Amino acid sequence: MALRKITEYPAKVLNEVGDPVEVFDEELARLCEDMFETMYAEEGVGLAAPQIGLSLRLFVMDCAGIKLVAANPEIVAAEGEQGGEEGCLSVGKIHSPLKRAERATLRAQDVRGEWYEREAAGLAARCFQHETDHCDGLLFINRLTPLKRNMVTKRFQKLKKWE
Ligand code: NI
Repeated sequence: MALRKITEYPAKVLNEVGDPVEVFDEELARLCEDMFETMYAEEGVGLAAPQIGLSLRLFVMDCAGIKLVAANPEIVAAEGEQGGEEGCLSVGKIHSPLKRAERATLRAQDVRGEWYEREAAGLAARCFQHETDHCDGLLFINRLTPLKRNMVTKRFQKLKKWE
C-alpha cells in the first residue's frame, strides 16, 4: 500500500468528468487500498479518484458506519433536505454550509464489479452526494453561491501561502 498525494483546487482534473471504471482487477483493488490509506491518513471520510489526480469514476468512503468502494457511482434517488457544513480534502478542509438531500440511494459497482444499491441518511448520504459529485467533475464549492465560494477559495489561498 502507498499514500497518494492529494490533488488540490484549482487542479483541472477536479473539474473533469471521470472516465468509467471498466477493468476490475488486482490493480484496481490496490488502487482502492491506496485510496483508503490516503483517506485515513488525511482524516477524511471519503476520497474520490480525481483527488489523487486520476480522472476516474471511483470513490472510497468510511463515514457514519458505512464503508464502501463505489465505481461508476450514481445517485438514483434523493429526498428531503439537510443543512450542515461540508468540506473537502482538495480544498484544505475549509467548511461551508451546503444544503444536500437528507436521504440518498447510491448505485455503484464494488471492487469486483458487482452492482449494488445502498441507501443512507444524514452524514453518509451527504458523503454519497459529495463523492459522486467528484466523479462528475464537481467540487462542493461549485454548488455554493458565488459569494460563499469566494470566501472558501480566498481562505484556501491564504492557507496555501502559509504552508
Ligand atoms: Ni471532496
